[in-house]
Amino acid sequence: MSNNYKATLKQHADILLNTSSSWQDKRNTLHAIAGLFSSMDIYDLQDQSTNAETNEKWLGTGYAVSSWSAAMCLLEVARTTVFLKGIIEAIQKLLEDTKERPINIVDAGCGPYAILSIIPALYFSSNDIQLYLIDIIPENIISIKKTITKLELVNYIGGIYEEDAGQFKWTKNAPMHIAVSETMLNALRKEPQVAITLNLRNQLAPQGIFIPEQISVDLMAVNAQKKQHAKMLLHDNLIREEFETKLANIMELSKNSPAANKENTIPLKEVQLTNAYNPNLHELALYTTIKVFGNNILQHEDCSLTLPFIISRPYKNTIAENALLQFQYRISGKPAIEIAVIA
Ligand SMILES: C[S@@+](CC[C@H](N)C(=O)[O-])C[C@H]1O[C@@H](n2cnc3c(N)ncnc32)[C@H](O)[C@@H]1O
Repeated sequence: MSNNYKATLKQHADILLNTSSSWQDKRNTLHAIAGLFSSMDIYDLQDQSTNAETNEKWLGTGYAVSSWSAAMCLLEVARTTVFLKGIIEAIQKLLEDTKERPINIVDAGCGPYAILSIIPALYFSSNDIQLYLIDIIPENIISIKKTITKLELVNYIGGIYEEDAGQFKWTKNAPMHIAVSETMLNALRKEPQVAITLNLRNQLAPQGIFIPEQISVDLMAVNAQKKQHAKMLLHDNLIREEFETKLANIMELSKNSPAANKENTIPLKEVQLTNAYNPNLHELALYTTIKVFGNNILQHEDCSLTLPFIISRPYKNTIAENALLQFQYRISGKPAIEIAVIA
């Protein structure tokens, strides 16, 4: 029996992706989408009892967050909108650039709603795209099966896998054109974005697209007092140069990143601090920028994934001026950028 869930979701998606929608329109729309899922008996963000759910899973290369946290990601306005726009543009580009059909898309860590797959599916035909959904949490797999049935998107689904996307092997006799993963925190801490990227990028078709196209982490010197003051007074018209200075790019994660070494780390840069950093005035912080695809970019502080991660504060864990710092990325154990003061 046909229903209007799909048509309603498409109406919401049109508002969300419309460039003239305000932030408030988008926020209301994301809450309406959460309400739609709840009415479909999928995953109810308003049900406070699920809030206490603790089905997160430790994977050796980071945490798969709980179903509740993964569902909550939907409501992050900039994150969800920019990812969706980027994914839709990447599909359009490949449909123009290649005659191969369908475009095979792997959603690695799709969460209970598979939102980064099902909304793009509303804009293409199932002859043009096929979706492969991966999540390690069993409850999410149950939830996405229900989602695609209720939204009548079953013919878009090439496969559903309850697996670790950091180990996943693409066994289809067809190209993997796009791999999408949003399994990260700011400064690439704790969650397995790096392990998943390094695993899937090797399995992409030669012209395949990994989303996000690039995640950059920069070392910054920040005058926190001036920053707070400027934010209170100027809001959106901040002149960032007045309170923060980029000292160095530390890491860029993309489909072209170097492989990990035997210790499961990626050696990064050595950085000699200069007098742009004054330990009595400045925090040292890692800033994250996510180029989802093309011009769809999550800049510093646009969402939780791009909040600053503070390494040292004046008079607290202070790193001396002119210190020589060595950076590396640890993939297994506790994933994070590690910093050693070597001189
Ligand atoms: C931050 S949530 C994002 C959910 C969804 N992609 C979105 O953008 O709204 C990350 C999801 O990835 C899943 N996940 C994390 N690491 C994974 C892994 N190594 N393999 C499979 N799923 C993973 C988690 O269970 C969670 O559902």
